[in-house]
Amino acid sequence: MDTLIKEMKPELGKDFLPLNGTDYIELYVGNAKQAAHFYKTAFGFQSLAYAGPETGVKDRASYVLVQNKMRLMLTTPLRSGSEIAIHHEKHGDGVKTLALMVDDAYDAYEQTMKRGAKSYMEPVTLTDTNGEVKLSGICTYGEVVHVFVERKNYQGVFMPGFKKLESNYNPGPTGLLYVDHCVGNVGWNQMNPWVKFYEDVMGFRNILSFDDKDISTEYSALMSKVMSNGNGFVKFPINEPAEGKKKSQVEEYLEFYEGEGTQHIAIATADIVSTVKQLMDRGVEFLKVPNSYYDDLLDRVGPIDEDIEPLKELGILVDRDDEGYLLQLFTKPVEDRPTMFYEIIQRKGAKSFGKGNFKALFEAIEREQANRGNL
Ligand code: FE2
Repeated sequence: MDTLIKEMKPELGKDFLPLNGTDYIELYVGNAKQAAHFYKTAFGFQSLAYAGPETGVKDRASYVLVQNKMRLMLTTPLRSGSEIAIHHEKHGDGVKTLALMVDDAYDAYEQTMKRGAKSYMEPVTLTDTNGEVKLSGICTYGEVVHVFVERKNYQGVFMPGFKKLESNYNPGPTGLLYVDHCVGNVGWNQMNPWVKFYEDVMGFRNILSFDDKDISTEYSALMSKVMSNGNGFVKFPINEPAEGKKKSQVEEYLEFYEGEGTQHIAIATADIVSTVKQLMDRGVEFLKVPNSYYDDLLDRVGPIDEDIEPLKELGILVDRDDEGYLLQLFTKPVEDRPTMFYEIIQRKGAKSFGKGNFKALFEAIEREQANRGNL
Protein backbone atom coordinates (compact mmCIF):
# COMPACT_ATOMS: atom_id res chain seq x y z
CA MET A 1 0.00 0.00 0.00
CA ASP A 2 1.28 3.38 -0.85
CA THR A 3 0.74 5.70 2.05
CA LEU A 4 2.74 8.52 0.59
CA ILE A 5 0.20 9.78 -1.91
CA LYS A 6 -0.77 13.26 -0.90
CA GLU A 7 -4.26 14.42 -1.69
CA MET A 8 -4.26 16.91 -4.54
CA LYS A 9 -5.25 20.22 -3.08
CA PRO A 10 -8.20 21.89 -4.78
CA GLU A 11 -7.18 24.59 -7.19
CA LEU A 12 -6.64 27.86 -5.40
CA GLY A 13 -6.79 29.85 -8.57
CA LYS A 14 -6.71 29.37 -12.30
CA ASP A 15 -3.97 27.03 -13.61
CA PHE A 16 -1.52 29.50 -15.18
CA LEU A 17 -0.06 26.79 -17.43
CA PRO A 18 -2.90 24.55 -18.66
CA LEU A 19 -1.41 21.50 -20.45
CA ASN A 20 -3.33 19.12 -22.70
CA GLY A 21 -0.70 16.36 -22.55
CA THR A 22 2.59 15.46 -24.23
CA ASP A 23 2.73 16.72 -27.82
CA TYR A 24 5.89 14.89 -28.87
CA ILE A 25 9.20 13.64 -27.50
CA GLU A 26 12.32 14.40 -29.51
CA LEU A 27 15.45 12.28 -29.25
CA TYR A 28 18.78 13.40 -30.64
CA VAL A 29 20.31 10.26 -32.17
CA GLY A 30 23.40 9.29 -34.15
CA ASN A 31 21.45 8.03 -37.16
CA ALA A 32 17.79 8.99 -37.37
CA LYS A 33 17.10 6.86 -40.44
CA GLN A 34 18.19 3.72 -38.59
CA ALA A 35 16.56 4.78 -35.30
CA ALA A 36 13.24 5.26 -37.14
CA HIS A 37 13.56 1.72 -38.52
CA PHE A 38 14.16 0.40 -34.98
CA TYR A 39 11.17 2.21 -33.46
CA LYS A 40 8.91 1.05 -36.31
CA THR A 41 10.15 -2.54 -36.24
CA ALA A 42 10.58 -3.07 -32.51
CA PHE A 43 7.95 -0.77 -30.96
CA GLY A 44 5.38 -0.57 -33.77
CA PHE A 45 5.48 3.18 -34.38
CA GLN A 46 4.07 4.40 -37.71
CA SER A 47 5.64 6.83 -40.17
CA LEU A 48 4.17 10.33 -39.84
CA ALA A 49 6.39 13.23 -40.98
CA TYR A 50 9.89 14.15 -42.12
CA ALA A 51 12.06 17.27 -42.28
CA GLY A 52 15.54 17.46 -43.80
CA PRO A 53 17.42 18.72 -46.84
CA GLU A 54 14.48 17.71 -49.09
CA THR A 55 12.21 20.09 -47.15
CA GLY A 56 14.74 22.92 -46.95
CA VAL A 57 16.32 22.09 -43.55
CA LYS A 58 20.08 22.11 -43.97
CA ASP A 59 21.59 21.02 -40.66
CA ARG A 60 19.49 18.03 -39.60
CA ALA A 61 17.08 15.24 -40.53
CA SER A 62 14.02 14.57 -38.35
CA TYR A 63 11.68 11.60 -38.59
CA VAL A 64 8.36 11.85 -36.74
CA LEU A 65 6.66 8.57 -35.84
CA VAL A 66 3.30 8.03 -34.19
CA GLN A 67 1.41 5.33 -32.30
CA ASN A 68 -2.06 6.29 -31.08
CA LYS A 69 -1.50 9.54 -29.10
CA MET A 70 2.28 9.28 -28.79
CA ARG A 71 4.54 11.12 -31.23
CA LEU A 72 8.28 10.43 -31.28
CA MET A 73 10.70 12.66 -33.21
CA LEU A 74 14.15 11.30 -34.08
CA THR A 75 16.64 14.00 -35.07
CA THR A 76 20.22 13.61 -36.27
CA PRO A 77 22.86 16.19 -37.24
CA LEU A 78 24.08 16.26 -40.86
CA ARG A 79 27.43 17.90 -40.09
CA SER A 80 29.85 18.12 -37.20
CA GLY A 81 30.00 21.14 -34.95
CA SER A 82 26.27 21.94 -34.79
CA GLU A 83 24.36 22.15 -31.52
CA ILE A 84 22.81 18.74 -32.26
CA ALA A 85 26.19 17.18 -33.15
CA ILE A 86 27.83 18.52 -29.97
CA HIS A 87 24.86 17.28 -27.89
CA HIS A 88 25.12 13.86 -29.44
CA GLU A 89 28.88 13.60 -29.07
CA LYS A 90 28.54 14.32 -25.35
CA HIS A 91 25.39 12.42 -24.40
CA GLY A 92 24.91 9.76 -27.07
CA ASP A 93 21.28 9.13 -28.04
CA GLY A 94 18.84 10.74 -25.62
CA VAL A 95 15.87 13.01 -25.04
CA LYS A 96 16.25 16.65 -26.09
CA THR A 97 12.64 17.82 -26.05
CA LEU A 98 9.63 16.96 -23.92
CA ALA A 99 7.06 18.95 -25.90
CA LEU A 100 3.79 19.87 -24.21
CA MET A 101 0.45 20.58 -25.83
CA VAL A 102 -1.02 23.97 -24.94
CA ASP A 103 -3.88 26.18 -26.07
CA ASP A 104 -1.66 29.29 -26.14
CA ALA A 105 2.09 28.93 -26.74
CA TYR A 106 2.70 32.68 -26.40
CA ASP A 107 1.00 32.81 -23.00
CA ALA A 108 2.77 29.61 -21.81
CA TYR A 109 6.08 31.32 -22.56
CA GLU A 110 5.10 34.56 -20.87
CA GLN A 111 3.74 32.82 -17.75
CA THR A 112 6.81 30.61 -17.27
CA MET A 113 9.38 33.29 -18.15
CA LYS A 114 7.95 35.74 -15.65
CA ARG A 115 8.24 33.00 -12.99
CA GLY A 116 11.94 32.51 -13.66
CA ALA A 117 12.25 30.09 -16.61
CA LYS A 118 15.34 30.18 -18.82
CA SER A 119 14.35 30.74 -22.45
CA TYR A 120 15.03 28.09 -25.07
CA MET A 121 12.88 29.44 -27.90
CA GLU A 122 11.03 32.74 -28.13
CA PRO A 123 7.46 32.33 -29.39
CA VAL A 124 7.17 31.82 -33.15
CA THR A 125 4.24 31.26 -35.51
CA LEU A 126 4.87 28.77 -38.31
CA THR A 127 2.43 28.77 -41.22
CA ASP A 128 1.80 26.78 -44.37
CA THR A 129 -1.26 25.97 -46.48
CA ASN A 130 -2.58 23.69 -43.67
CA GLY A 131 -2.74 26.46 -41.10
CA GLU A 132 -0.47 27.58 -38.30
CA VAL A 133 1.45 26.10 -35.36
CA LYS A 134 2.77 28.33 -32.58
CA LEU A 135 5.83 27.23 -30.61
CA SER A 136 7.86 28.51 -27.66
CA GLY A 137 10.29 26.79 -25.33
CA ILE A 138 12.03 26.84 -21.96
CA CYS A 139 14.97 24.91 -20.49
CA THR A 140 14.68 22.27 -17.76
CA TYR A 141 17.22 19.88 -16.12
CA GLY A 142 20.44 19.07 -18.00
CA GLU A 143 20.11 20.04 -21.65
CA VAL A 144 16.47 18.92 -21.84
CA VAL A 145 13.89 21.49 -22.94
CA HIS A 146 10.12 21.88 -22.90
CA VAL A 147 8.62 23.16 -26.14
CA PHE A 148 5.05 24.44 -25.88
CA VAL A 149 3.05 23.47 -28.96
CA GLU A 150 -0.19 25.19 -29.98
CA ARG A 151 -1.69 23.33 -32.91
CA LYS A 152 -5.42 24.03 -32.66
CA ASN A 153 -5.36 25.91 -35.99
CA TYR A 154 -3.38 23.30 -37.91
CA GLN A 155 -4.72 20.52 -40.15
CA GLY A 156 -1.49 19.16 -41.65
CA VAL A 157 0.31 15.92 -40.70
CA PHE A 158 2.63 17.43 -38.04
CA MET A 159 3.71 21.06 -38.39
CA PRO A 160 4.93 23.50 -41.03
CA GLY A 161 8.40 22.54 -42.30
CA PHE A 162 7.58 18.83 -42.29
CA LYS A 163 6.25 16.70 -45.14
CA LYS A 164 4.30 13.47 -44.84
CA LEU A 165 6.70 10.57 -44.29
CA GLU A 166 5.82 7.90 -46.86
CA SER A 167 7.20 4.39 -46.49
CA ASN A 168 6.67 0.97 -48.02
CA TYR A 169 7.71 -0.58 -44.71
CA ASN A 170 4.87 -0.36 -42.20
CA PRO A 171 4.92 -2.97 -39.44
CA GLY A 172 1.75 -2.92 -37.32
CA PRO A 173 1.32 -1.15 -33.97
CA THR A 174 1.84 -2.95 -30.64
CA GLY A 175 -0.90 -1.29 -28.57
CA LEU A 176 1.17 1.59 -27.14
CA LEU A 177 -1.27 4.44 -26.41
CA TYR A 178 0.24 7.59 -24.88
CA VAL A 179 3.02 8.91 -22.62
CA ASP A 180 2.16 8.13 -18.99
CA HIS A 181 5.18 9.84 -17.40
CA CYS A 182 8.80 10.84 -18.13
CA VAL A 183 11.48 10.53 -15.45
CA GLY A 184 14.46 12.87 -15.11
CA ASN A 185 17.77 11.91 -13.48
CA VAL A 186 19.47 14.88 -11.80
CA GLY A 187 22.71 15.22 -9.82
CA TRP A 188 23.43 14.97 -6.09
CA ASN A 189 21.21 17.36 -4.07
CA GLN A 190 19.52 18.59 -7.26
CA MET A 191 16.12 16.90 -6.80
CA ASN A 192 14.64 19.60 -4.57
CA PRO A 193 15.80 22.54 -6.71
CA TRP A 194 14.13 20.91 -9.76
CA VAL A 195 11.01 20.12 -7.72
CA LYS A 196 10.90 23.82 -6.89
CA PHE A 197 11.37 24.71 -10.56
CA TYR A 198 8.35 22.61 -11.55
CA GLU A 199 6.33 24.11 -8.68
CA ASP A 200 7.26 27.75 -9.12
CA VAL A 201 7.83 28.06 -12.86
CA MET A 202 5.32 25.54 -14.23
CA GLY A 203 2.69 25.32 -11.46
CA PHE A 204 3.19 21.56 -10.93
CA ARG A 205 2.64 19.84 -7.58
CA ASN A 206 4.60 17.17 -5.76
CA ILE A 207 2.11 14.27 -5.57
CA LEU A 208 4.42 11.50 -4.33
CA SER A 209 7.83 11.21 -2.65
CA PHE A 210 10.21 8.29 -2.17
CA ASP A 211 13.26 8.57 0.04
CA ASP A 212 16.30 6.36 0.10
CA LYS A 213 14.64 4.00 2.60
CA ASP A 214 11.88 3.28 0.11
CA ILE A 215 14.20 2.96 -2.86
CA SER A 216 17.30 1.14 -1.86
CA THR A 217 18.37 -2.40 -2.11
CA GLU A 218 21.72 -3.25 -0.70
CA TYR A 219 23.34 -1.03 -3.31
CA SER A 220 21.42 1.04 -5.78
CA ALA A 221 19.83 3.84 -3.76
CA LEU A 222 17.96 6.82 -5.13
CA MET A 223 15.43 9.41 -4.04
CA SER A 224 12.48 10.51 -6.15
CA LYS A 225 9.68 13.07 -6.16
CA VAL A 226 6.81 12.89 -8.63
CA MET A 227 5.70 16.22 -10.08
CA SER A 228 2.31 16.52 -11.77
CA ASN A 229 0.55 19.34 -13.57
CA GLY A 230 -2.93 20.40 -12.45
CA ASN A 231 -5.02 17.96 -14.51
CA GLY A 232 -2.52 15.09 -14.09
CA PHE A 233 -1.94 14.72 -17.85
CA VAL A 234 1.78 15.47 -17.45
CA LYS A 235 3.87 13.75 -14.77
CA PHE A 236 7.61 14.15 -14.30
CA PRO A 237 9.22 12.13 -11.49
CA ILE A 238 12.67 13.55 -10.61
CA ASN A 239 15.37 11.17 -9.30
CA GLU A 240 18.65 11.93 -7.59
CA PRO A 241 21.26 9.40 -6.46
CA ALA A 242 21.51 8.42 -2.78
CA GLU A 243 24.38 6.93 -0.80
CA GLY A 244 24.49 3.14 -0.87
CA LYS A 245 27.09 0.46 -0.48
CA LYS A 246 27.99 0.79 -4.13
CA LYS A 247 27.22 3.03 -7.07
CA SER A 248 23.61 4.20 -7.43
CA GLN A 249 21.91 3.41 -10.74
CA VAL A 250 21.32 7.17 -11.11
CA GLU A 251 25.07 7.76 -10.79
CA GLU A 252 25.78 5.22 -13.50
CA TYR A 253 23.34 7.11 -15.75
CA LEU A 254 24.89 10.50 -14.93
CA GLU A 255 28.37 9.15 -15.64
CA PHE A 256 27.48 7.63 -19.01
CA TYR A 257 25.08 10.38 -20.15
CA GLU A 258 27.70 12.87 -18.99
CA GLY A 259 25.12 14.92 -17.19
CA GLU A 260 21.50 15.13 -16.17
CA GLY A 261 18.86 13.84 -18.57
CA THR A 262 15.71 11.83 -19.11
CA GLN A 263 16.00 8.35 -17.57
CA HIS A 264 12.87 6.67 -18.86
CA ILE A 265 9.67 7.26 -20.77
CA ALA A 266 6.65 5.30 -19.56
CA ILE A 267 4.14 4.42 -22.27
CA ALA A 268 0.60 3.28 -21.47
CA THR A 269 -1.11 0.23 -22.94
CA ALA A 270 -4.61 -1.17 -22.37
CA ASP A 271 -3.38 -4.78 -22.67
CA ILE A 272 0.11 -5.21 -21.29
CA VAL A 273 0.27 -8.97 -21.92
CA SER A 274 -0.44 -8.53 -25.62
CA THR A 275 1.82 -5.46 -25.97
CA VAL A 276 4.81 -6.98 -24.16
CA LYS A 277 4.46 -10.27 -26.05
CA GLN A 278 4.62 -8.36 -29.35
CA LEU A 279 7.53 -6.16 -28.22
CA MET A 280 9.51 -9.24 -27.15
CA ASP A 281 8.78 -11.01 -30.45
CA ARG A 282 10.11 -7.90 -32.20
CA GLY A 283 13.37 -7.91 -30.25
CA VAL A 284 12.79 -5.44 -27.39
CA GLU A 285 14.80 -6.58 -24.35
CA PHE A 286 13.30 -6.32 -20.86
CA LEU A 287 14.63 -6.53 -17.33
CA LYS A 288 13.79 -9.87 -15.79
CA VAL A 289 12.89 -10.42 -12.14
CA PRO A 290 13.41 -13.87 -10.57
CA ASN A 291 10.51 -16.34 -10.89
CA SER A 292 10.20 -16.29 -7.07
CA TYR A 293 8.65 -12.79 -7.48
CA TYR A 294 5.43 -14.57 -8.54
CA ASP A 295 5.31 -17.10 -5.67
CA ASP A 296 3.53 -14.77 -3.25
CA LEU A 297 2.29 -12.17 -5.75
CA LEU A 298 -1.41 -12.49 -4.91
CA ASP A 299 -0.67 -12.29 -1.16
CA ARG A 300 1.10 -9.01 -1.81
CA VAL A 301 -1.28 -7.36 -4.29
CA GLY A 302 -4.61 -9.10 -3.72
CA PRO A 303 -6.90 -10.38 -6.49
CA ILE A 304 -6.19 -9.20 -10.06
CA ASP A 305 -8.05 -9.78 -13.34
CA GLU A 306 -5.07 -11.30 -15.15
CA ASP A 307 -3.86 -14.90 -15.07
CA ILE A 308 -0.53 -15.19 -13.25
CA GLU A 309 1.04 -17.57 -15.78
CA PRO A 310 1.40 -15.11 -18.73
CA LEU A 311 2.61 -12.40 -16.33
CA LYS A 312 5.27 -14.76 -15.02
CA GLU A 313 6.22 -15.92 -18.49
CA LEU A 314 6.74 -12.33 -19.66
CA GLY A 315 8.14 -11.00 -16.37
CA ILE A 316 5.37 -8.39 -15.93
CA LEU A 317 5.33 -6.74 -12.47
CA VAL A 318 2.22 -5.85 -10.44
CA ASP A 319 1.70 -3.32 -7.64
CA ARG A 320 -1.33 -2.01 -5.78
CA ASP A 321 -2.15 1.30 -4.11
CA ASP A 322 -5.28 2.66 -2.41
CA GLU A 323 -7.01 3.26 -5.73
CA GLY A 324 -6.31 0.09 -7.68
CA TYR A 325 -3.40 -1.74 -9.22
CA LEU A 326 -0.96 -1.38 -12.06
CA LEU A 327 1.08 -3.69 -14.26
CA GLN A 328 4.48 -2.59 -15.51
CA LEU A 329 7.69 -3.74 -17.11
CA PHE A 330 10.97 -1.99 -17.95
CA THR A 331 13.16 -2.40 -21.02
CA LYS A 332 16.91 -2.56 -20.83
CA PRO A 333 18.58 0.67 -22.02
CA VAL A 334 17.95 1.09 -25.76
CA GLU A 335 21.46 2.49 -26.34
CA ASP A 336 24.89 0.94 -25.78
CA ARG A 337 25.45 3.53 -23.07
CA PRO A 338 23.46 2.46 -19.97
CA THR A 339 21.21 5.53 -20.20
CA MET A 340 17.61 5.85 -21.40
CA PHE A 341 15.06 3.03 -21.27
CA TYR A 342 11.29 2.60 -21.56
CA GLU A 343 8.57 1.47 -19.20
CA ILE A 344 5.39 -0.20 -20.42
CA ILE A 345 2.53 0.43 -17.98
CA GLN A 346 -1.12 -0.59 -17.70
CA ARG A 347 -3.06 1.20 -14.98
CA LYS A 348 -6.12 -0.44 -13.46
CA GLY A 349 -7.08 2.34 -11.08
CA ALA A 350 -3.66 2.85 -9.48
CA LYS A 351 -2.18 6.33 -9.85
CA SER A 352 1.19 5.49 -8.26
CA PHE A 353 4.45 4.26 -9.79
CA GLY A 354 5.09 0.71 -8.60
CA LYS A 355 6.89 1.28 -5.31
CA GLY A 356 6.22 -2.33 -4.28
CA ASN A 357 8.33 -3.46 -7.25
CA PHE A 358 11.38 -1.31 -6.51
CA LYS A 359 13.29 -3.95 -4.58
CA ALA A 360 12.86 -6.76 -7.13
CA LEU A 361 13.42 -4.33 -9.95
CA PHE A 362 16.53 -2.70 -8.54
CA GLU A 363 18.08 -6.06 -7.87
CA ALA A 364 17.51 -6.84 -11.55
CA ILE A 365 19.07 -3.47 -12.49
CA GLU A 366 22.06 -4.17 -10.25
CA ARG A 367 22.67 -7.52 -11.94
CA GLU A 368 22.85 -5.63 -15.24
CA GLN A 369 25.10 -2.92 -13.69
CA ALA A 370 27.41 -5.64 -12.37
CA ASN A 371 27.55 -7.24 -15.84
CA ARG A 372 28.74 -3.89 -17.18
CA GLY A 373 31.36 -3.60 -14.43
CA ASN A 374 29.67 -0.45 -13.10
CA LEU A 375 28.53 -1.45 -9.63
FE1 FE2 B 1 8.27 5.01 -14.32
